[in-house]
Amino acid sequence: MSDAPRLRVGVLASGRGSNLRAILSGVEARRVRAEVVVVLSDRSGAGALDIARDHGVEALVLDPTLHPGREGYDQALIALLEERRVELVCLAGYMRILRPVFVRHFEGRLLNIHPALLPAFPGLHAQRQALEHGVRIAGATVHFVDEGVDTGPIVLQAAVPVRQDDTEASLSDRILAEEHRIYPEAIRLFAEGRLRLEDRHVRILEEP
Ligand code: GRF
Repeated sequence: MSDAPRLRVGVLASGRGSNLRAILSGVEARRVRAEVVVVLSDRSGAGALDIARDHGVEALVLDPTLHPGREGYDQALIALLEERRVELVCLAGYMRILRPVFVRHFEGRLLNIHPALLPAFPGLHAQRQALEHGVRIAGATVHFVDEGVDTGPIVLQAAVPVRQDDTEASLSDRILAEEHRIYPEAIRLFAEGRLRLEDRHVRILEEP
């Protein structure tokens, strides 16, 4: 890989951090020309923080109770990310709804992973929603974040067939394996400058 500067990525996570781990693996294996410069969480017990520290990445908790108002919280997040010159923000199991001030600030450089084939089953418990609906094909989506909940332009998707005997846990596991594949891939494409946003469509440019 060339010595071209690596994309500076910030990850926001509230939970166990398996997507963060997958991103770090891609970065460390140099498949993704990026560097995770900070992991931020709203929960001090988030497993993602331990994973970050284990990989030598700065891990910060921003306690929502110390920031009056949601807007103030998101302004503080912006400041922390800007101080670290973050170019791309990746939500990886981040459980707070971002305020418009944040979404607008990072417009076009804010990605999320969702465990469903959007626009089906946005919001919480997507895998359970898919099972209850009786779909044959579930999946995962990486998308740019806009001001709606899981409504932004779609970057990559992966399909996961539903089995007759699937439980929420078994289906979630197979979807998660696909998440771990497509999230680093989407970041790779972004880092290579190969994602072009055209209204709500994302064009993937050919490799130069
Ligand atoms: C993943 O299923 C992701 O799609 C959703 O939250 C979960 C986070 O898992 N947004 P992890 O913390 O990355 O393991």
